[in-house]
Amino acid sequence: MGWDTIKLNNGNEIPSIAYGSWTLGGGQPTVDHVDQALDGGFNHLDTAQSYRNELEVGTALHDSGLKRDDIFITTKYSAIDGLDIDTSIHNSLKNLGVQHVDLYLIHNPRIVPDIPSAWAQMEKLQSDGFTKGIGVSNFEISHLETLLASAKVTPAANQILLHPYVWQRQAPLVEYCQKKGIVVEAYSVLIPLTHQPGGAVDAPVKKIAKREKVEPEQVLLAWAKSKGVVVVTSSTKKDRLQRYLAAGDLKLTDEDIASIDKAGSEGARRFTARTFVKRAIGLALFGAAVLGACSYIGVDLI
Ligand SMILES: NC(=O)c1ccc[n+]([C@@H]2O[C@H](COP(=O)([O-])OP(=O)(O)OC[C@H]3O[C@@H](n4cnc5c(N)ncnc54)[C@H](OP(=O)(O)O)[C@@H]3O)[C@@H](O)[C@H]2O)c1
Repeated sequence: MGWDTIKLNNGNEIPSIAYGSWTLGGGQPTVDHVDQALDGGFNHLDTAQSYRNELEVGTALHDSGLKRDDIFITTKYSAIDGLDIDTSIHNSLKNLGVQHVDLYLIHNPRIVPDIPSAWAQMEKLQSDGFTKGIGVSNFEISHLETLLASAKVTPAANQILLHPYVWQRQAPLVEYCQKKGIVVEAYSVLIPLTHQPGGAVDAPVKKIAKREKVEPEQVLLAWAKSKGVVVVTSSTKKDRLQRYLAAGDLKLTDEDIASIDKAGSEGARRFTARTFVKRAIGLALFGAAVLGACSYIGVDLI
């Protein structure tokens, strides 16, 4: 598989593609989706206290029969229910059914009142053995500088939003982290396909996909891989998961990467005057239809 491991600054190896449970919800379907990912060859699970499905992730992990050491588990402190960091990790470990996680992240700098004291608590979790590594998520350079000013342990990773439309903005942060020995993890890499289709990135991605006889999502994952980051992605579909893994072997040329970077810097599809008018007419028609229906059934809205 082309998704090698990357060495963390704590000496451990992190698999460079992860299966995330953010959008999976809860219940048996979630267990089945995580199980499908493990079955398909994913060996890195990414979850969080706020996803409220650590229990399902843990159930799938145990049902899989895989050895604990064969799976890299990341979870995050999300400051849910007003719980402190220490209580939160113990709840997460219980939900996941493990003695330790491989990486424990502060989900967002906004959720901790004070970065240095939160980080000191994270350091204690690592020295107590509840997690092998500690890191952060959604931290910008200024947050990392505040943290590093008093840190005894440099964060092993910073998990951030990374896709072609934010590359220009995020590149200095990626460079900063890499210089400091902090591994960058990229989430929502597929946004140009899933949430912002129709922008400048579509053309180079489609062109490369056609040439390589692969799907556009594979090109986007290979683009992220070319930046030297860990990719955190997800899917409910077995065939798509196989394509994600196969994307590890997709070799993009320097020109391919530059063309996606350039298209990303041109931005996602913007509202033109024409789309604005079209949407306004659509909204007006919808409003008129709702008013008509209400008056028909005798509901007085005004
Ligand atoms: N630290 C943070 O703050 C943070 C924030 C966001 C996410 N994350 C982590 O990153 C993980 C992945 O996040 P994400 O879901 O935003 O990642 P993503 O990799 O950008 O998107 C994955 C989604 O894309 C869909 N997809 C893939 N190819 C597609 C295509 N060709 N057309 C339409 N849809 C397509 C999949 O849907 P199907 O199920 O239909 O295949 C799946 O739901 C999360 O689960 C979480 O672990 C962390």
